[in-house]
Amino acid sequence: MANESSAREHWSGGLGFILAAAGSAIGLGNIWKFPYITGENGGGAFVLVYLLCITVIGVPVMLCEITLGRHTQRNPVGAFRMLNPPVSRLAHLIGLCMVTLGLVLLAFREWGWGVATLGLGLAVFKYGWVLVGGLGVVAGFCILSFYSVVAGWTVGYTWKAMAGQLNFTDIPTAEAAFGAFIVDPWWAIGCHAVFMLLCILIVYRGVRAGIERWSKILMPVLFGILVVLIVRGLTLPGAMAGVQFYLSPDFSKLTTNSILIALGHAFFSLSLGMGAIMTYGSYVGKNQNLFLSTLSIVVLDTLVALMAGLAMFPAVFAKGFNPAVGPGLVFQVLPTVFAHIPFGAFWATIFFILLLVAALTSGISLLEVVTAYFVDERKWTRHRATVVFGIVIFLLGSLCAISVTGWERLPRLHDVLVATFGSVKGSFFDVMDNLASNWMLPLGGLFISLFVGWIWGTKRAVDEIRQGSHNFADVHLISLLAGLKDDPGHNDPRHVITLASLWGIFIRFISPVAVLIAFLNTIGWLDLTKKKSAPPPPPPAIEQAEPAQESVEP
Ligand code: PHE
Repeated sequence: MANESSAREHWSGGLGFILAAAGSAIGLGNIWKFPYITGENGGGAFVLVYLLCITVIGVPVMLCEITLGRHTQRNPVGAFRMLNPPVSRLAHLIGLCMVTLGLVLLAFREWGWGVATLGLGLAVFKYGWVLVGGLGVVAGFCILSFYSVVAGWTVGYTWKAMAGQLNFTDIPTAEAAFGAFIVDPWWAIGCHAVFMLLCILIVYRGVRAGIERWSKILMPVLFGILVVLIVRGLTLPGAMAGVQFYLSPDFSKLTTNSILIALGHAFFSLSLGMGAIMTYGSYVGKNQNLFLSTLSIVVLDTLVALMAGLAMFPAVFAKGFNPAVGPGLVFQVLPTVFAHIPFGAFWATIFFILLLVAALTSGISLLEVVTAYFVDERKWTRHRATVVFGIVIFLLGSLCAISVTGWERLPRLHDVLVATFGSVKGSFFDVMDNLASNWMLPLGGLFISLFVGWIWGTKRAVDEIRQGSHNFADVHLISLLAGLKDDPGHNDPRHVITLASLWGIFIRFISPVAVLIAFLNTIGWLDLTKKKSAPPPPPPAIEQAEPAQESVEP
């Protein structure tokens, strides 16, 4: 489709969409977070649980998002506005619960929370499901504001690696250098600005010439670098211990908490719950197979997450460092590991380029959600929307950048928040992260599956998916798996067990319940973790490195 302002741009084909969406999904979550949470939660056992979560929740919800996007050809707000029913009893019920909760909170003099909950409840009555789309756009602002700060660190570390400044002899030196780096406002804001500028430049060019073109260049680069790093790591003497640590299943380390971590991470890693994938889905043509695209994106995302661990742990073990350091793994342990390997500066440079590439293709998808909203709904030009909101997010992110470790630099904002909400956990950076990752994404995912399952209806969704994929809805699952879908005897139209029917059950029942349980647990209203996770883990065999910094965890 052409670039005319009236016609909506589309991907040039299936590959363009898959690579762009995989680019959104593959990000810091895969390369930085997945390896260390796997390391901390039982290696292979955790990988199994994670695979289960993405199959049961990730695939169905992603298919919902892509289907909503392609059907409506709109940004998340426009999509829900188009499909929002005039009256929704479910929405009214949710609104009523929130209004009641708001009033109860006010009665207990929780003014900030009370007003916020009451206001949101009333908004549910006014806007209905459109609010879910709005939540996505707001989440885009919040996530990109802290994500681009961490991405900025990768810009800075790429630079430092090239300049040979990451030559740390031991972990404490690396930690001190990292600590000094992230609190230096010039570095933090400067690097964050460079990253935002790159995002703006790509999104500015549009869907095909910007996002698709760059995803097609950057994703193979990312893959190539990962393979090179894996080969380098695995060929170091003593590397196999790392593979064993990473992948051998240790079910004793698996707690209920690990399962919830896996579920939460599945959302973040697949970019679900805030409309990024929905927005990308809105540029997909009608002839494309949505189910296979979904599977490809999920498989690529998981593959890269697994490969990232294989690129790191063998090298960490080979050089005798402790792998269980949590968030500090990438910025503290790895540079030290590389410093002990021949041509370390080169390896460190390509590693940080890898991280930057991964972050960039995710960053552009976050900016695209905001841009698409202002282009579709407010009739702004793409250029104006990209530049204006790129700058707004840069400013919001600058607040995160200067307050990564605490509120010293933002005392006024801190006072206002404390006066309104009673107390604030963590820094401004943590507040943004917590708000987006623990509240907005799970709630967004929950409401998206409820909306498709119960309001818009699986029937209409399946009609949309059918375009481009008959096998999804019209072929008996058993015949499909057996390769007999074209056999006349197996083509009885009364067949009911199809991929579509399975998906419908997941979307209506399993995904919402699982997400709700995980959400209630994260916000502390349901504590499933106490009994099982009570015994402290045995001390690791290798010398324990410094505890990881809480505040660097998006
Ligand atoms: N999926 C990205 C990652 O793994 C983060 C992201 C979340 C991107 C939500 C877009 C939307 O790093």
